[in-house]
Amino acid sequence: MLKKIFFSFLISIICMNMLAKGNLPVYLDDTQPIENRISDALSRMTLDEKVAMLHAQSKFSSAGVPRLGIPENWMTDGPHGIRTEVFWDEWDQADWTNDSCTAFPALTCLSATWNPKIAEVYGQAIGEEARYRNKNVLLGPGVNIYRTPLNGRNFEYMGEDPYLASRMVVPYVQGVQSNGVAACVKHYALNNQEFERNRVNVTVDDRALYEIYLPAFKAAVTEGKAWAIMGAYNRYKGQWACQNEYLLKNILRGEWGFDGVVISDWGGVNNTEQAVYNGLDMEFGTWTNGMTESRSDAYGMYYFANPLLEKIKKGEISETEIDKKVRNILRLVFRTTMNRNRPFGSFATPEHSKIARQIAEEGIVLLKNKNNILPIDKNSVKKILVVGENAIKMMTVGGGSSQLKAKYEISPLEGLKSVFGADKIVFARGYAGEKVKPQDNVKVADTYDHRPADELKNEALEKAKTADVVIFIGGLNKNPNQDCEGNDRQTLALPYNQDALISALAKVNKNLAVVILSGNAVAMPWVNEASAIVEAWYSGAEAGNALANVLSGAVNPSGKLPFTFAVKLNDYGSHTLGDYPGDSNFEETYREGIFVGYRWFEKQNIKPLFPFGHGLSYTAFEYGKASASAKIIAENENITITIPIKNTGNRAGKEVVQLYIGDEKSSVPRPVKELKHFQKIDLQASEEKNVRFTITADDLKFFDDTKHEWTVENGKFKAFIGASSADIKSVLDFILE
Ligand code: BGC
Repeated sequence: MLKKIFFSFLISIICMNMLAKGNLPVYLDDTQPIENRISDALSRMTLDEKVAMLHAQSKFSSAGVPRLGIPENWMTDGPHGIRTEVFWDEWDQADWTNDSCTAFPALTCLSATWNPKIAEVYGQAIGEEARYRNKNVLLGPGVNIYRTPLNGRNFEYMGEDPYLASRMVVPYVQGVQSNGVAACVKHYALNNQEFERNRVNVTVDDRALYEIYLPAFKAAVTEGKAWAIMGAYNRYKGQWACQNEYLLKNILRGEWGFDGVVISDWGGVNNTEQAVYNGLDMEFGTWTNGMTESRSDAYGMYYFANPLLEKIKKGEISETEIDKKVRNILRLVFRTTMNRNRPFGSFATPEHSKIARQIAEEGIVLLKNKNNILPIDKNSVKKILVVGENAIKMMTVGGGSSQLKAKYEISPLEGLKSVFGADKIVFARGYAGEKVKPQDNVKVADTYDHRPADELKNEALEKAKTADVVIFIGGLNKNPNQDCEGNDRQTLALPYNQDALISALAKVNKNLAVVILSGNAVAMPWVNEASAIVEAWYSGAEAGNALANVLSGAVNPSGKLPFTFAVKLNDYGSHTLGDYPGDSNFEETYREGIFVGYRWFEKQNIKPLFPFGHGLSYTAFEYGKASASAKIIAENENITITIPIKNTGNRAGKEVVQLYIGDEKSSVPRPVKELKHFQKIDLQASEEKNVRFTITADDLKFFDDTKHEWTVENGKFKAFIGASSADIKSVLDFILE
């Protein structure tokens, strides 16, 4: 009887459901294929409603269709945390009290982990924060290639190597989008400097475009299935990137089959027709001049607002062009806000703090460790002197659009005090940079020191004499002309006379560990004077705890450099060839072509300060003899390379095993070697593991710009396996027949 009642109840529920569904318009029925829902919604929209969707209605939002219940689109920076709420029409933060986010490490730090799994966790967590704050597009990640160490935005990107950036961006995008939030990969493409970013016209050959500058974008789109992409500010082939036929129409939509939305950078559109025909979908930030000026009557004046509407009404532009764009935007809406199954997200949680800390710990790179002065044993050490402004400076504020209103930020000094005990830590500032520049009214503690430079320096030197260890914490910061959007650095050198202070400290105390916080390589004239050197990036809310855990040995460092540190600026191809930052007409040719980063250093035989892929550990790894499954292969065959790696030290650690390929003879110039695979492995003390890589013909290809296709030539190749691009442990020859 009970069974009977239960079944008739079930059947009536199903019938009611069917009835209800039957009444639903197709666009609201999520059992229908998305493309049908899009067509249905589009057929119900007026021209005005369509055009309203194509451009901003506030600094970070665009209109939905209120009459049909289709929600607005809300964007947020990105890429290291969820940007604070700003006023409708201003950059200034709106003083909400519930929008202080988790600050995750900068993308350079993420990239330095060489751990795609942690990139997915990062994406998932930041996606949860975006979702909770009801944003459906996260403006990130950024994957512009590191071409010059002067680029003020390198800290927001994933380094100099297209393969590394590709492997790291795909899981980040997937993680974000698992929340029903679109990742908007930026800045597509060739935005490799901030200086004159709105005017510079880049000339680059197709080989470099396809081999160096596009792969990470392509991977994000074709493998990560990114739902959005942001056009860049700069020009290419004389057209702005946001309205660029070659980049958007031919490559992105044509070759890669992108079905998401193309969003302009804020203020990146300059012409209605070109933007309409060349593939832009949504216009943001026009009349706001990047991060500075703004005008409140802007929205109706957008290229994709009244001017577009008029042209359609006059018959100069056909409505079908607009329909294509609205289709893309509706696809975004059905994937995000109108996806009833998406999760609800979470915000500023202890779990996210833990993730931020783990990423920071895994990204920190130990560059040098003479006489194993690190880690510092917290039981035996009595007095640690901490010197340097970056030990106390907030790094989540400033830097441009990626700045955050963080729930909290643990400074290095706070982290060191909590790990080693406040009684063992003495602080001396040593130098003072300029006053902290608050951005967009986000509050920042003013730690400015008015004392004369000599007084600050002498205080540090005096205290250094009696310390067991000196930890110098300096580097760059988020002020303009350092690691900051909108302008570039002016030199490779550290600012504020830090070099002289470091050298002086090294003379007084030989146990000197230098910690650099930066998103860029810096010159280190004192490299032989400091006993230990650590690159600790900008690593978010948990920066201080992560650094202290690495310095104390609670965490064994395992980060590797995602870009080359040069001795001097002219060691980089972009500078030697004299092209950066472009001529007086804002024309800039990337004359070094495919030879970017380590590809240039190896071709020119220039010894870097620290090579791409370099990073030490507190334990030691022994690379055994590598072996290959074959010596001769055909184009459709693979080779498996196996190499045993043993942890020969007495503590657990992680190693990034890297595989590079070199082509011995080719009809075109090729790099000495290029990264094609890597694996991060975890080894207990004395543990040994075999690492396996499968090489396919794709790993041997170059982009043939005469045929416009990836191609492979028969002949001899070399597989280099090592701990960095310069620390090669095994070389195996093989032949492609
Ligand atoms: C930046 C973008 C950012 C946008 C919105 C622009 O100035 O280039 O990266 O997402 O502003 O803040």
